[in-house]
Amino acid sequence: MDLVFERGGLTLSDELVEVLIESARAVRDNAYAPYSGFRVGAAVISESGKIYVGCNVESASYGATLCAERAALAQMIAAGEHRVVTVAVFVDGAEPAMPCGICRQWICELGPHAEIVTATPTRVKRSTIDQLLPEPFVLKRNE
Ligand code: THU
Repeated sequence: MDLVFERGGLTLSDELVEVLIESARAVRDNAYAPYSGFRVGAAVISESGKIYVGCNVESASYGATLCAERAALAQMIAAGEHRVVTVAVFVDGAEPAMPCGICRQWICELGPHAEIVTATPTRVKRSTIDQLLPEPFVLKRNE
């Protein structure tokens, strides 16, 4: 279950991708989605190989809702890590849920070439943030 170097970047073994999907599936049970009923689980693996999880948190003020992907990435940041390698998203249903626009911007910020794995009980779709957010907005960093 190793991180390996491939095509100039870090990618995951198939076994580790399975672990990540299972982590996203499990945390989805804790989703707080009383308004949409659409429960989402996310798991991210950082450059150090640690896994962080998150689920969506809805609010009666709908715009204040937090997506599962950003919840997981915030956990990674809180643990002192700034680089994500792969983001897994799990939903129940026929179609995988692709990260929303705001989450794509977050993923790009913390993993400019991150892999995205979107899964349902019957499907797994793999892509990269380069494909999902071409020509992202970037700012010069001051630190
Ligand atoms: N949601 C996510 O958790 N991730 C996404 O990338 C898209 C949407 C959540 C937010 C809200 O709780 C529910 O899905 C319906 O939009």
